[in-house]
Amino acid sequence: MPDFGFLSLLLWPAFLLLTSAYLLRPKPSTFPTANTYPRDFLNRKAYREVQENSRNLIITSLAKFKSPFTIAIPHGRKILLPASLADWVKSNRNLDHRQLVREDFFANVPGFEAQTLLHSADDVVLNVIKTKLGQNDSTMGPMSESLAVGLREIWGEGCEWHTISWYKDTMELIARAASSVFVGPEKAGDREWLDLVQDYVMAYFSGVSELHRYPKWSRWIVHWFLPNAIACRKYVSRARTMMREVLEKRRQEVEKAELEGADPPRYNDALIWVQASSGGRAEPGDVQLSLAMAALFTTSEAFRQVLIDVARYPGLVDELRNEVSKQISEHGISIAATSNMVLLDSVMKESQRLSSSTVVLERAALADTPLPDGRVIPRGSHIMVDSTGLWDSSIYPSPDQYDGHRFLRKRNAGDKSSQFVQSGPNFYVFGGGRHICPGRFFANNELKLALAHILLKYDIRLVEGCDPKPISNGFYTMVDPTVQLQVRRREGGDILHV
Ligand code: HEM
Repeated sequence: MPDFGFLSLLLWPAFLLLTSAYLLRPKPSTFPTANTYPRDFLNRKAYREVQENSRNLIITSLAKFKSPFTIAIPHGRKILLPASLADWVKSNRNLDHRQLVREDFFANVPGFEAQTLLHSADDVVLNVIKTKLGQNDSTMGPMSESLAVGLREIWGEGCEWHTISWYKDTMELIARAASSVFVGPEKAGDREWLDLVQDYVMAYFSGVSELHRYPKWSRWIVHWFLPNAIACRKYVSRARTMMREVLEKRRQEVEKAELEGADPPRYNDALIWVQASSGGRAEPGDVQLSLAMAALFTTSEAFRQVLIDVARYPGLVDELRNEVSKQISEHGISIAATSNMVLLDSVMKESQRLSSSTVVLERAALADTPLPDGRVIPRGSHIMVDSTGLWDSSIYPSPDQYDGHRFLRKRNAGDKSSQFVQSGPNFYVFGGGRHICPGRFFANNELKLALAHILLKYDIRLVEGCDPKPISNGFYTMVDPTVQLQVRRREGGDILHV
């Protein structure tokens, strides 16, 4: 006789497991799936198509379905809307950028405090980015000085061509310039601090990718064992200690000045701005890591792409040098100078156009949201908008060709959305609506100052045979990490006075 008691002991857990898997299975989507293939039972081909070929997948699927569709990705599904719905997405209050970021970038995981704080409800960091980091002339001098010191130390003064350490040196320059405004003079050039913020950013983004590889239900425990998440927790703890020490030192300096009847020292950086606006409630180390997380990777990728394009099209260099030199002579190191660098602006925007992601305006649906055609985007879905128009010849003639003057011509013809910081139809690289990137003015000024220093002080070129190709990483594009860029110091740059 079979032992039914023993059998049922085995069968009950199996039954419960199958029932839960059935109940938790993804519900069929209202929208057709673009990357589904015969006999691709494990979705290997489906995921490979997104990873390596998202532009083509989107273009062919839009032509095929002529309406929204779903794309399967390893950790879920995304609904892709055509570019004609960009305005509708931008203004729909049910479609939320911050909720999407919280979910996709794992706010609330210990160690990922930078993300948690950036998208927290009290907006303490966001408000400072919006009000203080934008068109603020007082940030320009410190940024320019730290770029001058950074270039001297990293790229050197030698008049012989030499190859820079591509990824590390470019990130470091951007980190130094940003730190001069984020953290202030005490730590802006401090080796430990500069390493800490850069290492945190790398560990954070790597940790996010790692965590995505695990099923949703397991992540709350898995993150405790992932090396990058563990490293992030260590960096958060160290950043908190270092920033509290800086604030304590500043407190003592003010106290001493008051005792001596002298004017108290004035600080002008995000460390103090966030403390003031939060009434001292914001954790200063977390604030700094938030700023680094939002600013360093995005801006250094943009910086790398412009360097490649300027090196590739040396015909632009004299014109750029003349413009930069004229504006700095007339306006000094100021917002007025960078605002008038209109060719550089166009060059930066063209570099951005060609290296952009294939989707924009990513949002999470906070409620069931009817599309204009009546079909419903279910609550909890993630949506995004097609951005492949950036390579469409009917919008950008000869779209695959780099044309540094493209956006300058548009601007001169009265196109209101042709400046680097502007979003507009067919160009939502900085997003749009109430979540449009608030750091874009800061990035614009930082990039222009960095490029002005480089144009005036250095010659740059790609090593012979080096032909950088953007790397497709799903919907996103990464700048080629293997570039070999050579630089040499030239006469000039005195106009920068540093
Ligand atoms: C070239 C550099 C940068 C690029 C390409 C970029 C791009 C973006 C994009 C695409 C978004 C989403 C907007 C949307 O979907 O509507 C965004 C949001 C954001 N960016 Fe940037 N960004 C850059 C630099 C910066 C910098 C330097 C900072 C901070 C100093 C920053 C802070 C933020 C913040 C806080 C948000 C979230 C806004 C919100 O949720 O309302 N970004 N950025």
